[in-house]
Amino acid sequence: MERFIITGGHPLLGEAEVSGAKNAILPILAASLLCEEECFFEKIPLLEDVFVMCDVLRHYGVKIRWQGSSLHIDPRQLENKDAPEFLMKKLRASNLILGPLLSRFSSACLPYPGGCAIGSRPMNYHMSALTQLGAEICDFGSCIRAKASCLHGTEICLDFPSVGATENIMTASVKACGDTVIRNAAREPEVVDLADFLNKMGARVTGAGSDTIRVQGVNRLKGAEHKVIPDRIEAGTLMIAAAITGGDVLLKGLDPQSSSAVIAKLRSSGVIVKEDSAGVRVIAKKRPRATDIRTMPYPGFPTDMQPQFMAYAVTACGTSVIAENIFENRFKHADEMRRMGADIKIIGEAAVVRGKENITGAQVEATDLRAGAALVLMGLYARGETTVDNVFYIDRGYQRLENSLAALGADIVRRSYDASGWPRQAAQSPCS
Ligand code: EPZ
Repeated sequence: MERFIITGGHPLLGEAEVSGAKNAILPILAASLLCEEECFFEKIPLLEDVFVMCDVLRHYGVKIRWQGSSLHIDPRQLENKDAPEFLMKKLRASNLILGPLLSRFSSACLPYPGGCAIGSRPMNYHMSALTQLGAEICDFGSCIRAKASCLHGTEICLDFPSVGATENIMTASVKACGDTVIRNAAREPEVVDLADFLNKMGARVTGAGSDTIRVQGVNRLKGAEHKVIPDRIEAGTLMIAAAITGGDVLLKGLDPQSSSAVIAKLRSSGVIVKEDSAGVRVIAKKRPRATDIRTMPYPGFPTDMQPQFMAYAVTACGTSVIAENIFENRFKHADEMRRMGADIKIIGEAAVVRGKENITGAQVEATDLRAGAALVLMGLYARGETTVDNVFYIDRGYQRLENSLAALGADIVRRSYDASGWPRQAAQSPCS
């Protein structure tokens, strides 16, 4: 078991390079199952979720070779099997193999995926859409069995712009007979990156980034090379790290447009945000003003930044109202924040946060990926020492977060501890 130990009060200063986007590379890796030639990917974030997705691909026979942060994928010799439950349970994005398996093998059998416990996260939109494409799907409650002798293009209107459902429809339809139209499609930049990769393989996907995506079925997909887009959620987390500590940080390689909602809210809280070709620079000179947010599908304020923004609001001058409109159970971090002195009241889908200056370090634990990152942000601000347990959650979505923060001047270290919570001493040599 590992934890972060943080001593707060150090303004973050300097530059940080934004990693490749977790939520772009995961659907792209799943989509590589469609391909009948080798693929090469650059700027891959070295994250637990990426390693698990690679293990899922290996289960089907994909050969994978790492070269630093580049990845060589050989999906030519594949064999369809029931998906490996112990791997599928580790991440929600494992459900993104459903579309590619149906397209390549005409059948798939996979357990319900795992992932952050932030809501029920059903797959009804996925299954309804794939059924409209011609698949027969049996939902056994714990697993899904699907088969499709022929996937045929059709017009699908999603009840909600689900990111994963949009991505599964795209991968299931790229080699379907005829054309598919996805209405009320997710517009996230990660959906656009998936479409770019599919088109490099020879697919014909247009409209990605809008609410209507069109896919013309093709017969064959060839190998491709692809560099993953920057991670706008990692970048947003580092922006708030700079803002909450009164720092000055340049995030290099970030497309400001992909973070426009977060940047707008930081500016309304009183932070200076400069955008130029080098990236986005965040300069915080004074205590933030309270700011309300409502999480919405892209281009609205991203739900994956809600916990981090709550950490920021805890320290603000005034009262902020945070409405979570995407997931029904994404306020678990509030309990841990209260242990540090935060004043947060949950009323239905909203959190009312009364800002305070007097936030003190405490022992807290991550309950999911973004909640863990939010607690780290509070530790950077808090007076005294904060320990954040269950760092494995944070490692799912951030590549050595402690190194990125320490390079900007934060006092944060990673330490091991045993199940009883005691620090694990370095193993004593039998000779000592
Ligand atoms: C993706 O999850 C992201 N994960 C999530 O990021 C992100 O929070 C989410 O999109 C929303 O932006 C990846 O891309 C790997 P959805 P996804 O389908 O696709 C409900 C992170 O921290 N829904 O857009 O699973 C669902 O329960 C993670 O990096 C159904 O009801 O999200 C949720 O309330 C967390 N039925 C809402 O829609 C369905 O069939 C949005 O879900 C599908 C979804």
